[in-house]
Formats: sequence, C-alpha cells, structure tokens
Amino acid sequence: MRILGIESSCDETAAAIVEDGQRVLSNQVFSQIEIHQPFQGVVPEIASRNHLLKIMEVVQDGMGGLTPGDIDAVAATEGPGLTGSLLVGLTFAKAIAYAWNKPLIPVNHIEAHAYAPHLTAEIPFPYIGLIVSGGHTLLIRANAHTDWEILGSTIDDAVGEAYDKVAKLMGLGYPGGPILDKLAHEGDPSALPLFRDMPRFLPDTPADRYRFSYSGLKTAMAYRLKQMEATPENLRHAAAAFQKSAVELLTRKTKNALEDTGIKTLTISGGVAANTGLRESLAALGAKGYTVVPAALKYCGDNAAMVAGRAYADYIAGKRGDMRTDAFSRLAFVKKGKRPPADAQGRRNS
Ligand code: KG4
Ligand code: ZN
Repeated sequence: MRILGIESSCDETAAAIVEDGQRVLSNQVFSQIEIHQPFQGVVPEIASRNHLLKIMEVVQDGMGGLTPGDIDAVAATEGPGLTGSLLVGLTFAKAIAYAWNKPLIPVNHIEAHAYAPHLTAEIPFPYIGLIVSGGHTLLIRANAHTDWEILGSTIDDAVGEAYDKVAKLMGLGYPGGPILDKLAHEGDPSALPLFRDMPRFLPDTPADRYRFSYSGLKTAMAYRLKQMEATPENLRHAAAAFQKSAVELLTRKTKNALEDTGIKTLTISGGVAANTGLRESLAALGAKGYTVVPAALKYCGDNAAMVAGRAYADYIAGKRGDMRTDAFSRLAFVKKGKRPPADAQGRRNS
C-alpha cells in the first residue's frame, strides 16, 4: 500500500510516499529556515503563507514520478502544530483525496515523530520512546503503534525550545539547536566555574521520575551569560555546559523509564534526536544491554515520510478521516494515546 504523506505543522513543507509503512519511495522537504532567520524564530503567519506558496510544488516533487493511480491513500498532519500552517497541508490533502477518490488519513504529529525510527529499523514492541523536538519533550511507552501512553513530559519548555532560546541569548542565530550542539563540542563543560552547578530539574521523586523541566536551566544560562565576558572561547565552554546539563537530564529520565518498566528497547526521535551529545549519551546504554534505535538523521526533523509511515499503521488499525477532519494545535488533544491520570495537584503530563 502506497501512501502520500503531507506535513506542514511548523516551518517545513514536506511530501513523501511510503510503501507499507517502510519503504520510502520519495521524500521532499522544503525548509523555511532562511525566511524566518531575520526574526530569530518562526513567525506563524509567515509560515502559513509560505506553506501556501510552496505546497503545490513540494507535493508534485514528492510524488517522485508516480501518478495518482499509484497511490492508495493521502495522509496529512492534523496536529499538534501551528494552526494556520496545519490548515494548509490538511486542506490540500483533503482536496487531493477528494479529487483522486482516495481515503484521507489524518496523522498526529507526535505519533509521526514516534514512528520515524520504524522507517529504517525493525523495532519490537514494547519500547520506550523519547520524543524531543522544538515543541515537545516526552517519554512514551509503546505497546503497539496504536497503543501507547505518555509516561512523562516537560512541565514547561521543550528541550529544543530551550536550545533555541539559549542560542539566541548567546547570539548564535536561528535555529539555535544545531549551532549550539556544534559549539558545545568545541568547549569544555567544566572550564568555567560560573557554569559548574547548573540546575538539573526535575528531581527523581516518584511524581517526577519521567518529567522534565527546561525553563530553570534556560534562566540559569541567562543569568550566567550576563555575568560572563562573551569571548568566543567562553561561549564555547558555556555551550558545552548547557549541552551537558540538557543531555544529562534527558538521559537520566530515560534511564528511569527503562529501569522501572524493565523494557529493553529505546527509540529516540524528533528534531533534537539529531543532537550528537544526546545520541552519544543514549548509545552508551547499548553497553548495558539495551537496544537503542535513534531515528535516521533525515527523519529527525519534520518530514512527511514519518507521516506517511505512521498513516499506514493508523490505516491498518482502521483510522480514517473525512472532509470534516479538523486541525488542532495542542498535545492535550492527542486522541489515541492513553492520557495519564491527574496527580494530587490536578496536573497531567500532557
Ligand atoms: O522536530 P522538529 O523539526 O520540529 C518540531 O516539531 O518542533 O524539531 C526542531 C527542533 C528545534 O528546536 C531545533 O533547534 C532542534 O530541533 N534541533 C536540535 C538539533 N537539531 C535540531 N537541537 C539540538 N541539537 C541539534 N543537533
Ligand atoms: Zn516536529
């Protein structure tokens, strides 16, 4: 079964065709990074208008020379993401599905990221999935593609968001994550006394064993950067200190989830899964008997292959959209995953 996937949740316009959820026949991604660079962040209205400008060309290229007769279904990201951006891809997908008389499969963006490692590897269930991106940081337990639960997520900033904000404070440009990652490798995390005792929230209390917090680390960086002379050498060391703390927190919470559940397989996906420090730190779990499967680099950031792949799993499980399918902006609307119960304070992890 061949599915055309369309992704437009943030600042990438993408289209891909995936066969039976595994063979990627074509994969086109147009990134708006240069368009948003002057603003040092994604401007939602500019993003949606550029999706509108590009979507036709990207989908034509994404067909990879195939014709509508070669396609069995059309899938598109329904959320979470920027509403205006989502509407472009979803509406385009509806129009194609209608015109070509194909089923429409709406795909959850988080579920699509979780699927990305499956595009390049056979992964046995159950597994723990660490999904880290510009908008989300969460640990899931996946029993099957369509049976998973959120173990914990960030209570404030996502890790990618923290990378981007700290990079902005350091004057590194946008998007800051990859630049900060590269700089961190050239620095020594313990060179500057000022950056030694960085906060590592949240502590591993029973309620917070799988929960993350990145706003404290970001604020700590902001205060310390103000007290530091911004020489190139100091910036390298500051980047290294930030990366060490950010990665240690992700690693610690992931280990908690693996140890508590006894599950031996870990997947890593989302834009921040491209981070070299994180990949190294989690790959080290391999020596402790865990199988660690990171998404291939080209499927870490937003792309449509993961959408088409995930759509296959959804289609097999019976999921169909129709012309009333809506877009949604927040993770709280995750429909398929089981939501965790509220804690004593009424907080949920999503
Ligand atoms: O998954 P993605 O493309 O979009 C969202 O769904 O958010 O993730 C983008 C995020 C950005 O915050 C970007 O800075 C971050 O992933 N990122 C990285 C790296 N590459 C991308 N963060 C740290 N290190 C990297 N190498
Ligand atoms: Zn994403």
